[in-house]
Amino acid sequence: MAKVITFGIQKGGVGKSTTSGIISYLLANDGYKVLTIDMDSQGNVTDLLTNLEPSEFEGETILEAFEANDIKPYIYQVTENLHVVPADDYLATLARFLYTNFRGNISLALNDLIEPIKGEYDFIIIDTPPSLSEPMVNAVCSSDYVVVLAESSKWAFTAIPRFIDTVEFAAKNVNPNVKLAGILRTMNDSRRADSKAFVELIGEEYPNTVFKTVIKRKASTGRIAIEGLFQNKELNDALDQYYEFYEELKNRIGVEEHV
Ligand SMILES: Nc1ncnc2c1ncn2[C@@H]1O[C@H](COP(=O)(O)OP(=O)(O)O)[C@@H](O)[C@H]1O
Ligand SMILES: [Mg+2]
Repeated sequence: MAKVITFGIQKGGVGKSTTSGIISYLLANDGYKVLTIDMDSQGNVTDLLTNLEPSEFEGETILEAFEANDIKPYIYQVTENLHVVPADDYLATLARFLYTNFRGNISLALNDLIEPIKGEYDFIIIDTPPSLSEPMVNAVCSSDYVVVLAESSKWAFTAIPRFIDTVEFAAKNVNPNVKLAGILRTMNDSRRADSKAFVELIGEEYPNTVFKTVIKRKASTGRIAIEGLFQNKELNDALDQYYEFYEELKNRIGVEEHV
């Protein structure tokens, strides 16, 4: 049965797509069967994992899966272990579809969609948009774990408690299985005192929730948006700071060593 993990926060530019893409890639490389669902109309994780522009998937995205009430025909196979349900600009119309045509609990539409295929994957990874909108609420409400991404800046810092409230509301009212996996601090710029200060502040405010690993701002990590993950000559350098987080995450969600 797949463990479902959402990478989220309502702030943009904090590394959600980069991190959810990298973790999907690392899990698949380790032999796990992974389905990554793109719930952001920007389609960034779609681009990162498929090396195709989101517009290439027009008519074959998560939006059409919702409309058809069937996700299977919209699963794109990148490799044997790594599958993606893409998103494009039209996902911006999801709310309209849900409020006019969806029968059932609107917050559980994604959960309903993935329920029949959970047995086919070890992990379902969900990337989210930078807002507390229907795609985000659906991602959180269909998850076992939520990883909160927080760049070391003031507006990311003030977004954390509001996002955690959303996760707790979902756990209390919609899906009792959803748990906070932790807060990952990202985009740390070691040359800036304010960046270091927010890393420390988040650590002091959420001592039991933060992951020990802090992701630094690093050119090669940023360039995976250009180079991708599959034919990237500097991949080791780009991913090295993620290996520690990957191990921490597996520990937190109770994944045993894969043999
Ligand atoms: N650790 C990093 N160092 C440098 N640049 C990064 C890093 N992580 C992500 N980026 C870049 O920063 C931008 C925002 O990251 P992204 O993953 O798209 O964030 P989000 O999905 O939260 O909006 C992208 O251009 C991405 O390539
Ligand atoms: Mg993104």
